[in-house]
Amino acid sequence: MKLCHWNDLPDGESRGFDPAGRGQDTVLIVRQGERLYAYADLCPHLDTPMAWRKDKYLNAAGDRIVCAAHGALFDITNGLCTLGPCLGDALVPVPLTVQANGEIHIAPTNHKETNP
Ligand code: FES
Repeated sequence: MKLCHWNDLPDGESRGFDPAGRGQDTVLIVRQGERLYAYADLCPHLDTPMAWRKDKYLNAAGDRIVCAAHGALFDITNGLCTLGPCLGDALVPVPLTVQANGEIHIAPTNHKETNP
């Protein structure tokens, strides 16, 4: 599922996406240089969206993802909460693929549910 093009993601910034057409963003991406970090837009504290404004998921320094509700801070590279009410919890990563033409897609999931 296509989200955007690489050129749509400025270095050092974040952006939200609504791939399921729910009327609110459910996936966030942060670009740092040539790396992309994508997570479900859902704070582990109260399972709420985190942007403080459309596409704004980073703190003022731009070095942490921040939840607008209660200020939890998350490491951009691994989604781990480093400060706040959900300390030690983590954002849920969203796997991406970058196509040769620069399009960024949510990676298809191939895993099958297995019941014991
Ligand atoms: S809902 Fe995110 S810190 Fe409380």
